Amino acid sequence: MTTAESLDALTVPAARASGCPFDPAPSVERARQTDPVIRATLWDGSSCWLVTRHQDVREVLGDPRFSADATRPGFPFLTQGLRELVGRNPTFIRMDDPDHARLRRMLTADFMVKKVEAMRPEVQRMADDLLDRMTDGRTSADLVSEFALPLPSLVICLLLGVPYEDHAFFQDRSRVLLSLRSTGDEVRTSMDELLEYLTRLAESKQGAPDDGIVSRLVARGELDFTEIAAMGRLLLIAGHETTANMTALSVLALLRNPDQLARLRDDSSLVKGAVEELLRYLTIIHNGVPRIATEDVTVGGRTIRAGEGVLCTVNTANRDEDVFPGGDSLDVGRDARRHVAFGFGVHQCLGQPLARVELQIAVETLLRRLPGLRLDIPFEDVPFRHDMGIYGVHALPVAW
Ligand code: HEM
Repeated sequence: MTTAESLDALTVPAARASGCPFDPAPSVERARQTDPVIRATLWDGSSCWLVTRHQDVREVLGDPRFSADATRPGFPFLTQGLRELVGRNPTFIRMDDPDHARLRRMLTADFMVKKVEAMRPEVQRMADDLLDRMTDGRTSADLVSEFALPLPSLVICLLLGVPYEDHAFFQDRSRVLLSLRSTGDEVRTSMDELLEYLTRLAESKQGAPDDGIVSRLVARGELDFTEIAAMGRLLLIAGHETTANMTALSVLALLRNPDQLARLRDDSSLVKGAVEELLRYLTIIHNGVPRIATEDVTVGGRTIRAGEGVLCTVNTANRDEDVFPGGDSLDVGRDARRHVAFGFGVHQCLGQPLARVELQIAVETLLRRLPGLRLDIPFEDVPFRHDMGIYGVHALPVAW
Protein backbone atom coordinates (compact mmCIF):
# COMPACT_ATOMS: atom_id res chain seq x y z
CA MET A 1 0.00 0.00 0.00
CA THR A 2 1.43 3.43 -0.84
CA THR A 3 1.51 6.24 1.67
CA ALA A 4 -1.16 8.16 -0.27
CA GLU A 5 -3.52 5.20 -0.23
CA SER A 6 -3.01 4.60 3.45
CA LEU A 7 -3.63 8.28 4.22
CA ASP A 8 -6.95 8.03 2.45
CA ALA A 9 -7.86 4.83 4.17
CA LEU A 10 -7.06 5.66 7.76
CA THR A 11 -8.32 8.55 9.82
CA VAL A 12 -8.04 8.76 13.58
CA PRO A 13 -10.10 8.63 15.73
CA ALA A 14 -11.38 5.86 13.45
CA ALA A 15 -15.07 5.01 13.35
CA ARG A 16 -16.24 1.65 14.62
CA ALA A 17 -19.06 1.87 12.06
CA SER A 18 -21.50 -1.00 12.39
CA GLY A 19 -18.93 -3.46 13.75
CA CYS A 20 -18.97 -4.96 17.23
CA PRO A 21 -18.79 -2.04 19.70
CA PHE A 22 -16.28 -3.94 21.86
CA ASP A 23 -13.84 -4.37 18.96
CA PRO A 24 -11.27 -1.83 17.73
CA ALA A 25 -12.24 0.16 14.62
CA PRO A 26 -12.17 -2.24 11.64
CA SER A 27 -9.80 0.01 9.65
CA VAL A 28 -7.15 -0.05 12.40
CA GLU A 29 -7.61 -3.80 12.96
CA ARG A 30 -7.10 -4.33 9.23
CA ALA A 31 -3.92 -2.27 9.42
CA ARG A 32 -2.57 -4.50 12.20
CA GLN A 33 -3.06 -7.54 9.99
CA THR A 34 -1.77 -6.10 6.72
CA ASP A 35 0.39 -3.03 7.32
CA PRO A 36 1.04 -2.83 11.07
CA VAL A 37 3.09 0.39 11.11
CA ILE A 38 1.13 2.76 8.91
CA ARG A 39 0.54 6.47 8.24
CA ALA A 40 -2.82 7.91 9.24
CA THR A 41 -4.61 11.25 9.19
CA LEU A 42 -5.69 12.79 12.46
CA TRP A 43 -8.99 14.61 13.05
CA ASP A 44 -7.23 17.99 12.55
CA GLY A 45 -5.74 17.03 9.16
CA SER A 46 -2.23 16.41 10.45
CA SER A 47 -0.66 13.00 9.98
CA CYS A 48 1.12 10.52 12.20
CA TRP A 49 2.12 6.85 12.38
CA LEU A 50 -0.10 4.17 13.84
CA VAL A 51 1.78 1.34 15.54
CA THR A 52 -0.71 -1.49 15.93
CA ARG A 53 1.03 -4.76 16.92
CA HIS A 54 1.78 -5.87 20.48
CA GLN A 55 5.54 -6.28 20.01
CA ASP A 56 5.92 -2.94 18.17
CA VAL A 57 3.79 -1.06 20.72
CA ARG A 58 5.99 -2.32 23.54
CA GLU A 59 9.09 -1.38 21.57
CA VAL A 60 7.92 2.21 21.03
CA LEU A 61 6.59 2.75 24.55
CA GLY A 62 9.76 1.26 26.04
CA ASP A 63 12.17 3.30 23.90
CA PRO A 64 13.38 6.68 25.26
CA ARG A 65 13.87 7.89 21.67
CA PHE A 66 10.09 8.26 21.63
CA SER A 67 9.09 11.27 23.70
CA ALA A 68 5.84 11.89 25.59
CA ASP A 69 6.50 15.65 25.61
CA ALA A 70 3.43 17.21 24.03
CA THR A 71 5.15 20.58 23.52
CA ARG A 72 7.36 19.13 20.75
CA PRO A 73 6.15 20.27 17.32
CA GLY A 74 4.44 17.41 15.50
CA PHE A 75 3.08 15.73 18.64
CA PRO A 76 -0.15 13.88 17.73
CA PHE A 77 -3.20 15.08 19.64
CA LEU A 78 -6.27 12.88 19.78
CA THR A 79 -8.72 15.60 20.66
CA GLN A 80 -8.96 19.34 20.40
CA GLY A 81 -9.12 19.33 24.20
CA LEU A 82 -5.73 17.68 24.55
CA ARG A 83 -4.21 20.10 22.03
CA GLU A 84 -5.62 23.08 23.92
CA LEU A 85 -4.03 21.88 27.15
CA VAL A 86 -0.50 21.95 25.82
CA GLY A 87 1.93 24.21 27.60
CA ARG A 88 -0.70 25.20 30.16
CA ASN A 89 0.12 23.61 33.48
CA PRO A 90 1.74 20.48 32.05
CA THR A 91 1.72 17.26 34.05
CA PHE A 92 4.25 14.43 34.08
CA ILE A 93 2.20 12.16 31.81
CA ARG A 94 3.33 14.45 28.97
CA MET A 95 6.92 15.01 30.12
CA ASP A 96 10.12 13.00 29.66
CA ASP A 97 12.64 11.94 32.26
CA PRO A 98 14.18 13.35 34.37
CA ASP A 99 11.24 15.75 35.00
CA HIS A 100 8.69 12.98 34.55
CA ALA A 101 10.49 10.70 37.02
CA ARG A 102 11.00 13.47 39.59
CA LEU A 103 7.29 14.31 39.68
CA ARG A 104 6.00 10.73 39.40
CA ARG A 105 8.23 9.70 42.31
CA MET A 106 6.32 12.08 44.58
CA LEU A 107 3.26 9.85 44.14
CA THR A 108 4.60 6.30 43.81
CA ALA A 109 4.20 5.44 47.51
CA ASP A 110 0.49 6.35 47.37
CA PHE A 111 -0.22 3.95 44.51
CA MET A 112 1.96 1.02 45.54
CA VAL A 113 0.21 -2.36 45.59
CA LYS A 114 0.58 -2.72 49.37
CA LYS A 115 -0.86 0.73 50.10
CA VAL A 116 -3.76 0.24 47.72
CA GLU A 117 -4.54 -3.31 48.90
CA ALA A 118 -4.94 -1.86 52.40
CA MET A 119 -7.81 0.22 51.03
CA ARG A 120 -9.83 -2.86 50.03
CA PRO A 121 -12.18 -2.85 53.07
CA GLU A 122 -12.93 0.86 52.53
CA VAL A 123 -13.56 0.41 48.79
CA GLN A 124 -15.76 -2.62 49.54
CA ARG A 125 -17.79 -0.57 52.02
CA MET A 126 -18.24 2.19 49.42
CA ALA A 127 -19.36 -0.35 46.80
CA ASP A 128 -21.85 -1.91 49.23
CA ASP A 129 -23.25 1.50 50.27
CA LEU A 130 -23.77 2.49 46.64
CA LEU A 131 -25.52 -0.78 45.86
CA ASP A 132 -27.69 -0.48 49.01
CA ARG A 133 -28.85 2.89 47.78
CA MET A 134 -29.25 1.80 44.15
CA THR A 135 -31.38 -1.24 44.99
CA ASP A 136 -33.42 0.31 47.81
CA GLY A 137 -37.05 -0.30 46.81
CA ARG A 138 -36.16 -0.44 43.11
CA THR A 139 -35.57 -3.06 40.44
CA SER A 140 -33.84 -0.92 37.80
CA ALA A 141 -31.31 1.93 37.58
CA ASP A 142 -28.58 3.50 35.47
CA LEU A 143 -25.46 1.60 36.53
CA VAL A 144 -23.12 4.37 35.35
CA SER A 145 -24.51 7.26 37.39
CA GLU A 146 -25.42 5.18 40.44
CA PHE A 147 -22.45 2.84 40.76
CA ALA A 148 -19.71 2.80 38.11
CA LEU A 149 -18.98 6.54 38.24
CA PRO A 150 -19.48 7.30 41.96
CA LEU A 151 -17.29 4.40 43.18
CA PRO A 152 -13.94 5.54 41.69
CA SER A 153 -14.92 9.19 42.25
CA LEU A 154 -15.38 8.53 45.98
CA VAL A 155 -12.07 6.68 46.12
CA ILE A 156 -10.01 9.31 44.30
CA CYS A 157 -11.61 12.09 46.38
CA LEU A 158 -10.61 10.27 49.53
CA LEU A 159 -7.05 9.77 48.27
CA LEU A 160 -6.59 13.34 47.10
CA GLY A 161 -8.49 15.08 49.90
CA VAL A 162 -11.07 16.55 47.48
CA PRO A 163 -14.62 16.97 48.93
CA TYR A 164 -16.91 14.45 47.20
CA GLU A 165 -19.76 16.99 47.43
CA ASP A 166 -18.06 18.74 44.51
CA HIS A 167 -18.33 15.69 42.23
CA ALA A 168 -20.89 17.19 39.84
CA PHE A 169 -18.47 20.06 39.20
CA PHE A 170 -15.36 17.99 38.44
CA GLN A 171 -17.19 15.24 36.59
CA ASP A 172 -18.76 17.82 34.29
CA ARG A 173 -15.42 19.57 33.61
CA SER A 174 -13.72 16.21 32.97
CA ARG A 175 -16.41 15.34 30.44
CA VAL A 176 -15.71 18.53 28.50
CA LEU A 177 -11.94 17.95 28.58
CA LEU A 178 -12.29 14.38 27.29
CA SER A 179 -14.92 14.98 24.62
CA LEU A 180 -13.90 14.80 20.96
CA ARG A 181 -16.58 17.41 20.27
CA SER A 182 -15.66 20.19 22.72
CA THR A 183 -14.61 23.49 21.21
CA GLY A 184 -11.33 25.19 22.12
CA ASP A 185 -13.20 27.74 24.25
CA GLU A 186 -15.10 25.07 26.15
CA VAL A 187 -11.92 23.17 26.88
CA ARG A 188 -9.98 26.25 28.01
CA THR A 189 -12.80 27.35 30.30
CA SER A 190 -13.22 23.90 31.85
CA MET A 191 -9.52 23.53 32.40
CA ASP A 192 -9.19 26.97 33.97
CA GLU A 193 -12.12 26.28 36.30
CA LEU A 194 -10.72 22.93 37.33
CA LEU A 195 -7.25 24.37 37.96
CA GLU A 196 -8.65 27.32 39.88
CA TYR A 197 -10.70 24.95 42.03
CA LEU A 198 -7.69 22.73 42.76
CA THR A 199 -5.39 25.71 43.41
CA ARG A 200 -7.87 27.03 45.98
CA LEU A 201 -8.12 23.57 47.49
CA ALA A 202 -4.32 23.33 47.77
CA GLU A 203 -4.16 26.77 49.39
CA SER A 204 -6.83 25.78 51.90
CA LYS A 205 -4.78 22.75 52.98
CA GLN A 206 -2.05 25.04 54.25
CA GLY A 207 -4.12 26.11 57.22
CA ALA A 208 -6.00 22.83 57.57
CA PRO A 209 -3.76 19.90 56.59
CA ASP A 210 -5.15 16.37 56.21
CA ASP A 211 -3.84 12.99 55.08
CA GLY A 212 -4.78 13.48 51.40
CA ILE A 213 -2.25 13.64 48.56
CA VAL A 214 -2.90 17.34 47.84
CA SER A 215 -2.24 18.29 51.46
CA ARG A 216 0.92 16.19 51.62
CA LEU A 217 2.22 17.76 48.41
CA VAL A 218 1.64 21.19 49.95
CA ALA A 219 3.47 20.16 53.14
CA ARG A 220 6.40 18.83 51.11
CA GLY A 221 7.05 22.35 49.90
CA GLU A 222 8.71 21.36 46.60
CA LEU A 223 5.89 22.42 44.26
CA ASP A 224 3.93 25.64 44.05
CA PHE A 225 0.12 25.66 44.21
CA THR A 226 -0.30 25.72 40.44
CA GLU A 227 1.94 22.69 40.01
CA ILE A 228 0.03 20.84 42.73
CA ALA A 229 -3.25 21.79 41.04
CA ALA A 230 -2.00 20.38 37.72
CA MET A 231 -0.99 17.13 39.42
CA GLY A 232 -4.37 17.01 41.17
CA ARG A 233 -6.16 17.53 37.86
CA LEU A 234 -4.35 14.59 36.26
CA LEU A 235 -5.14 12.28 39.18
CA LEU A 236 -8.73 13.44 39.53
CA ILE A 237 -9.55 12.87 35.86
CA ALA A 238 -7.46 9.71 35.36
CA GLY A 239 -8.72 8.40 38.70
CA HIS A 240 -12.43 8.41 38.01
CA GLU A 241 -13.14 8.48 34.25
CA THR A 242 -11.07 5.40 33.45
CA THR A 243 -12.27 2.97 36.11
CA ALA A 244 -15.87 4.19 35.78
CA ASN A 245 -15.92 3.35 32.10
CA MET A 246 -14.10 0.06 32.55
CA THR A 247 -16.65 -0.98 35.18
CA ALA A 248 -19.72 -0.24 33.10
CA LEU A 249 -18.25 -1.64 29.90
CA SER A 250 -17.14 -4.79 31.74
CA VAL A 251 -20.66 -5.41 33.02
CA LEU A 252 -22.06 -4.92 29.55
CA ALA A 253 -19.48 -7.24 27.97
CA LEU A 254 -20.27 -9.93 30.54
CA LEU A 255 -24.01 -9.57 29.96
CA ARG A 256 -23.33 -10.02 26.22
CA ASN A 257 -21.24 -13.13 26.93
CA PRO A 258 -23.54 -15.14 29.23
CA ASP A 259 -21.29 -18.22 29.18
CA GLN A 260 -18.39 -16.15 30.56
CA LEU A 261 -20.70 -14.47 33.07
CA ALA A 262 -21.87 -17.90 34.27
CA ARG A 263 -18.24 -19.07 34.72
CA LEU A 264 -17.52 -16.02 36.88
CA ARG A 265 -20.68 -16.44 38.94
CA ASP A 266 -19.82 -20.10 39.55
CA ASP A 267 -16.24 -19.42 40.58
CA SER A 268 -15.38 -16.05 42.09
CA SER A 269 -11.69 -17.04 42.24
CA LEU A 270 -11.71 -16.21 38.52
CA VAL A 271 -12.47 -12.52 39.17
CA LYS A 272 -8.85 -11.29 39.34
CA GLY A 273 -7.94 -12.93 36.04
CA ALA A 274 -11.25 -11.90 34.51
CA VAL A 275 -10.51 -8.24 35.26
CA GLU A 276 -7.20 -8.53 33.36
CA GLU A 277 -9.03 -10.18 30.47
CA LEU A 278 -11.67 -7.44 30.48
CA LEU A 279 -8.93 -4.78 30.51
CA ARG A 280 -7.38 -6.51 27.49
CA TYR A 281 -10.59 -7.17 25.59
CA LEU A 282 -12.13 -3.73 26.13
CA THR A 283 -9.01 -1.45 26.21
CA ILE A 284 -10.82 1.82 26.88
CA ILE A 285 -7.85 3.98 25.77
CA HIS A 286 -9.22 3.27 22.32
CA ASN A 287 -7.51 5.81 20.08
CA GLY A 288 -3.90 5.17 20.94
CA VAL A 289 -1.14 6.32 23.29
CA PRO A 290 0.75 9.26 21.72
CA ARG A 291 4.49 9.73 21.34
CA ILE A 292 6.88 11.64 19.07
CA ALA A 293 10.19 10.34 17.66
CA THR A 294 13.26 12.34 18.70
CA GLU A 295 15.54 10.38 16.34
CA ASP A 296 15.02 8.23 13.26
CA VAL A 297 13.90 4.82 14.54
CA THR A 298 12.95 1.65 12.65
CA VAL A 299 9.82 -0.02 13.98
CA GLY A 300 8.27 -3.08 12.34
CA GLY A 301 10.44 -2.50 9.27
CA ARG A 302 9.33 1.14 8.80
CA THR A 303 11.52 4.14 9.48
CA ILE A 304 9.87 6.70 11.71
CA ARG A 305 11.72 9.99 11.27
CA ALA A 306 12.67 12.38 14.05
CA GLY A 307 9.78 14.80 14.61
CA GLU A 308 7.07 12.40 13.42
CA GLY A 309 4.18 11.59 15.72
CA VAL A 310 3.16 8.06 16.66
CA LEU A 311 -0.01 6.60 18.12
CA CYS A 312 0.40 3.21 19.75
CA THR A 313 -3.01 1.62 19.38
CA VAL A 314 -3.03 -0.45 22.54
CA ASN A 315 -6.51 -1.77 21.71
CA THR A 316 -5.30 -3.54 18.54
CA ALA A 317 -2.11 -4.67 20.34
CA ASN A 318 -4.35 -6.34 22.88
CA ARG A 319 -6.06 -8.33 20.11
CA ASP A 320 -2.75 -9.45 18.57
CA GLU A 321 -3.17 -13.16 17.77
CA ASP A 322 0.57 -13.78 18.23
CA VAL A 323 0.21 -12.98 21.93
CA PHE A 324 -3.49 -13.65 22.59
CA PRO A 325 -4.72 -16.53 20.41
CA GLY A 326 -8.45 -16.15 19.78
CA GLY A 327 -8.08 -12.61 21.10
CA ASP A 328 -11.35 -11.38 19.60
CA SER A 329 -13.23 -13.47 22.14
CA LEU A 330 -13.70 -12.71 25.81
CA ASP A 331 -12.37 -15.64 27.83
CA VAL A 332 -12.39 -15.02 31.60
CA GLY A 333 -10.05 -17.99 32.13
CA ARG A 334 -7.34 -16.62 29.83
CA ASP A 335 -3.96 -15.48 31.17
CA ALA A 336 -4.17 -11.90 29.88
CA ARG A 337 -1.42 -10.41 32.03
CA ARG A 338 0.71 -9.33 29.08
CA HIS A 339 -1.96 -6.84 27.97
CA VAL A 340 -0.95 -3.23 27.39
CA ALA A 341 -4.23 -1.61 28.48
CA PHE A 342 -2.24 0.34 31.11
CA GLY A 343 0.45 1.27 28.59
CA PHE A 344 4.07 0.13 28.84
CA GLY A 345 7.45 1.59 29.82
CA VAL A 346 8.16 4.48 32.16
CA HIS A 347 4.70 6.03 31.72
CA GLN A 348 2.85 2.81 32.46
CA CYS A 349 -0.26 3.67 34.44
CA LEU A 350 0.58 4.85 37.95
CA GLY A 351 -2.94 4.07 39.17
CA GLN A 352 -3.12 0.47 37.95
CA PRO A 353 -3.02 -1.19 41.38
CA LEU A 354 -5.91 1.04 42.42
CA ALA A 355 -7.85 0.45 39.20
CA ARG A 356 -7.44 -3.32 39.71
CA VAL A 357 -8.74 -3.24 43.28
CA GLU A 358 -11.71 -1.07 42.26
CA LEU A 359 -12.58 -3.25 39.28
CA GLN A 360 -12.22 -6.52 41.16
CA ILE A 361 -14.46 -5.26 43.95
CA ALA A 362 -17.00 -3.74 41.55
CA VAL A 363 -17.35 -6.88 39.42
CA GLU A 364 -17.38 -9.35 42.33
CA THR A 365 -19.88 -7.31 44.37
CA LEU A 366 -22.27 -6.72 41.47
CA LEU A 367 -22.33 -10.39 40.48
CA ARG A 368 -22.76 -11.57 44.06
CA ARG A 369 -25.43 -9.10 45.08
CA LEU A 370 -27.42 -8.90 41.86
CA PRO A 371 -27.78 -12.45 40.52
CA GLY A 372 -30.55 -11.39 38.15
CA LEU A 373 -28.64 -8.44 36.66
CA ARG A 374 -29.70 -7.76 33.06
CA LEU A 375 -29.70 -5.00 30.46
CA ASP A 376 -32.88 -2.93 30.63
CA ILE A 377 -32.79 -1.57 27.05
CA PRO A 378 -32.06 -3.23 23.70
CA PHE A 379 -28.31 -3.63 23.19
CA GLU A 380 -28.58 -1.55 20.00
CA ASP A 381 -29.76 1.43 22.10
CA VAL A 382 -26.78 1.48 24.48
CA PRO A 383 -25.11 4.92 24.15
CA PHE A 384 -21.45 4.05 23.52
CA ARG A 385 -18.85 6.77 24.03
CA HIS A 386 -17.68 7.01 20.41
CA ASP A 387 -17.38 10.76 21.01
CA MET A 388 -14.99 10.56 23.96
CA GLY A 389 -11.24 10.10 24.41
CA ILE A 390 -11.93 7.35 26.93
CA TYR A 391 -14.27 4.66 25.62
CA GLY A 392 -17.21 3.24 27.54
CA VAL A 393 -20.92 3.94 27.79
CA HIS A 394 -22.63 7.19 28.71
CA ALA A 395 -25.32 5.28 30.57
CA LEU A 396 -26.16 1.64 31.27
CA PRO A 397 -29.80 1.04 32.19
CA VAL A 398 -29.96 -2.29 34.03
CA ALA A 399 -32.60 -4.24 35.95
CA TRP A 400 -32.34 -7.10 38.47
C1 HEM B 1 -1.07 6.58 32.69
C2 HEM B 1 -4.72 3.62 31.39
C3 HEM B 1 -6.68 4.09 35.82
C4 HEM B 1 -3.43 7.53 36.85
C5 HEM B 1 -1.87 5.69 31.99
C6 HEM B 1 -1.57 5.19 30.67
C7 HEM B 1 -2.59 4.39 30.29
C8 HEM B 1 -3.55 4.35 31.38
C9 HEM B 1 -2.74 3.64 28.97
C10 HEM B 1 -0.29 5.49 29.87
C11 HEM B 1 -0.33 6.81 29.15
C12 HEM B 1 0.94 7.08 28.36
O1 HEM B 1 1.86 6.25 28.31
O2 HEM B 1 1.01 8.13 27.72
C13 HEM B 1 -5.55 3.50 32.48
C14 HEM B 1 -6.70 2.62 32.54
C15 HEM B 1 -7.24 2.74 33.79
C16 HEM B 1 -6.45 3.70 34.52
C17 HEM B 1 -7.18 1.71 31.41
C18 HEM B 1 -8.43 2.07 34.42
C19 HEM B 1 -9.03 1.03 34.01
C20 HEM B 1 -5.98 5.07 36.49
C21 HEM B 1 -6.23 5.49 37.84
C22 HEM B 1 -5.31 6.49 38.11
C23 HEM B 1 -4.48 6.63 36.95
C24 HEM B 1 -7.32 4.93 38.75
C25 HEM B 1 -5.08 7.32 39.34
C26 HEM B 1 -5.65 7.44 40.35
C27 HEM B 1 -2.53 7.56 35.81
C28 HEM B 1 -1.36 8.44 35.79
C29 HEM B 1 -0.68 8.17 34.58
C30 HEM B 1 -1.44 7.12 33.90
C31 HEM B 1 -0.97 9.45 36.85
C32 HEM B 1 0.60 8.82 34.09
C33 HEM B 1 1.80 7.96 34.42
C34 HEM B 1 3.11 8.52 33.91
O3 HEM B 1 3.12 9.30 32.97
O4 HEM B 1 4.15 8.14 34.46
N1 HEM B 1 -3.09 5.16 32.40
N2 HEM B 1 -5.44 4.15 33.68
N3 HEM B 1 -4.91 5.77 35.99
N4 HEM B 1 -2.53 6.78 34.67
FE1 HEM B 1 -3.93 5.38 34.25
